[in-house]
Amino acid sequence: MNELSIDEVLAEVAVLVKPHFGKGRVPDYIPQLATVPGTKFGMAVRTVDGGEHAIGDADEGFSVQSITKVLSLGLALNRIGDEVWTRVGKEPSGTPFNHLSLLEAEGGFPRNPFINAGALAVTDILLDKVKDPAALVRGFAGFLADGPVAIDEAVAASELDNAWQNRAIANLMRGKGTVRHDPEAVVAAYSRQCALTMSCRQLARAFLPLAAGGFSPLVQETIFPERLTRRLNALLLTCGIYDSVGSFAYRVGLPAKSGVGGGVVAVVPGKATVAVWSPELDRFGTSVVGARALEAFSQLTNCSVL
Ligand code: DON
Repeated sequence: MNELSIDEVLAEVAVLVKPHFGKGRVPDYIPQLATVPGTKFGMAVRTVDGGEHAIGDADEGFSVQSITKVLSLGLALNRIGDEVWTRVGKEPSGTPFNHLSLLEAEGGFPRNPFINAGALAVTDILLDKVKDPAALVRGFAGFLADGPVAIDEAVAASELDNAWQNRAIANLMRGKGTVRHDPEAVVAAYSRQCALTMSCRQLARAFLPLAAGGFSPLVQETIFPERLTRRLNALLLTCGIYDSVGSFAYRVGLPAKSGVGGGVVAVVPGKATVAVWSPELDRFGTSVVGARALEAFSQLTNCSVL
């Protein structure tokens, strides 16, 4: 880290991202998400030694969407262990998050847990253990963030009303035997999980175990074994940003997960978590301003892992 304080870095980042508003588009394939103003910007940093820093709309809740896939995967790995890897792979897909082409070619076995097919497989696995996986993920998020986390039922309904692509994925997988529950129930549970509302501050808190060897300094509990924590970060670095993960690693150099609500969470192993939110997305489903903000943060603090 250089001589700028984290608060000074955040102030600098907020200035540097300004020219990048208006370059992306707020998504409308989940109509409820299209109602969010594209001008929002928030960022929060939580350090493993207890520091918390925030700027802009960092305390405003937004739809965290695919960021929840990290939490559902963590829950599945904690509960079921390596058997999860008999149901989903660990390789980058090189295709958009909701594509079916590889899935069809590869016998319904999803490339990784962060594309929709993989996340649907994880939901299917959790359905073996619990009736309501979305409630489980919500409870886990709230526990990790040390405060209540809500499911936005309007966002969940809006996604479910339009989840034709995810239904196609789940049905294809049911046909191949890689989804075992009713595909409609799997898609419904997944859509509700994606509709968790969290703020940047809450996300930075919830992801802290990934920066602290699996231990949450906030809730003072070991959440993941240390080896699993390293592996989750490896998956984020290689698969967390879908088919633009290579250029994201090149620019930012941190394990991270994006969501179509405009959130991106990055992990600085051993040091901190950084959560950013701005709703306009690039064509890969990543926040344009969010990625720029993380790139600037990584450069200003020299915190890239690469
Ligand atoms: O399944 C979907 O399309 C959404 N619920 C989540 C997609 C998502 O967040 C992709 N990430 N950038």
